[in-house]
Amino acid sequence: MKILMVCLGNICRSPMAEGILRQKIKEKNLAWQVDSCGTGSWHVGQTPDTRAQATAQNHQIDISMLRARQFSVKDFDDFDLIFAMDTSNYNDVRRLARNETDKEKVKMILNESFPKQNRAVPDPYYGGDHGFEQVFLLLDDACDAIIQHYS
Ligand code: 4NP
Repeated sequence: MKILMVCLGNICRSPMAEGILRQKIKEKNLAWQVDSCGTGSWHVGQTPDTRAQATAQNHQIDISMLRARQFSVKDFDDFDLIFAMDTSNYNDVRRLARNETDKEKVKMILNESFPKQNRAVPDPYYGGDHGFEQVFLLLDDACDAIIQHYS
């Protein structure tokens, strides 16, 4: 499985999701690949937000080596599953799909843990540290569900 996590800036939610899933894949010895990106370009080349790094580190996950990049149409060729954090990420990526195969790869990540509810991972960028921990816990459950569903 090749899995891509997508949010807006690629500095808060999707790098946390990437770090969490990477850790679980390692623990389970799965030969999966994981990457993350943003629909926007503002933060390209930057490390994850310091609050996202600290929250992940509190759970023994190092995401300090990740660098933000923007989603590109080529990602539809390179990945099997593309997980969007919220509805606008979902719509922005689906709008770039070239065909039905591309479209079907795009999913709302929390539908893994809360099927068919189309819930969004709240954007913690403008909130405090507690928002990041809440996001971590949501993504941790979703990544467990991804592994159950696709392994
Ligand atoms: P992310 O959070 O999409 O989870 O990485 C954001 C990061 C930056 C901005 C918005 C959301 N921004 O507007 O700069």
